[in-house]
Amino acid sequence: MPIVIRAVVESDLPAIAELFYQTVRHISPDLYTPEQTAAWAPEAGTAEGWARRFRGYEAVVAVDGEQVVGFGSVSRDGHIDMLFVHHARQREGIGAALLRRMLELAEAWRVTELHTEASLVAKGLFERFGFVVVTPEDIVRRGVVLRRFRMRRKSGCDLMKGESCG
Ligand SMILES: CC(C)(COP(=O)(O)OP(=O)(O)OC[C@H]1O[C@@H](n2cnc3c(N)ncnc32)[C@H](O)[C@@H]1OP(=O)(O)O)[C@@H](O)C(=O)NCCC(=O)NCCS
Repeated sequence: MPIVIRAVVESDLPAIAELFYQTVRHISPDLYTPEQTAAWAPEAGTAEGWARRFRGYEAVVAVDGEQVVGFGSVSRDGHIDMLFVHHARQREGIGAALLRRMLELAEAWRVTELHTEASLVAKGLFERFGFVVVTPEDIVRRGVVLRRFRMRRKSGCDLMKGESCG
């Protein structure tokens, strides 16, 4: 069945919560240790909590039939907050499809610059779409240090023309 990308609706929230939890907990220990993933995603969170997290953002979901296989969120001031793909569906192009949709939304809103805080797992995907690292940073979650990267991308830049997007 083809993957469909659409806006998140309330009934997606429990599946999104579970996907977030399972995806983080399944990240390779080569990138984040079990202590780090436990600090990042101590629990799935409630539907209400996720509705709050998406407030001020356009949240999009990837579905395969009835199943939620990924989600992301972007704000009108150009912040990409979330991008998660089901742990059993990695490297199938779902993350790229979600990011492409968020870039289309940003373009329609005439956002001039996008920014995000990418994990060690997501950095490669964002780079593929022209994001550049502004600075690496170590944040503390529940007493545990997590490495991530502040990244940005100027709108309208054309990677195919060799333009710099940072
Ligand atoms: C990051 C994430 C969303 C990518 O989703 P995905 O569906 O697996 O990515 P795609 O299949 O669309 O990848 C497209 C391209 O991005 C790049 N890419 C994706 N994952 C990568 C990785 N782990 N390392 C290096 N490059 C990667 C590759 O160029 C890839 O193309 P290829 O598979 O032909 O080589 C997914 O790995 C994920 O959910 N990670 C855990 C959560 C997370 O870290 N979220 C980001 C918080 S900012």
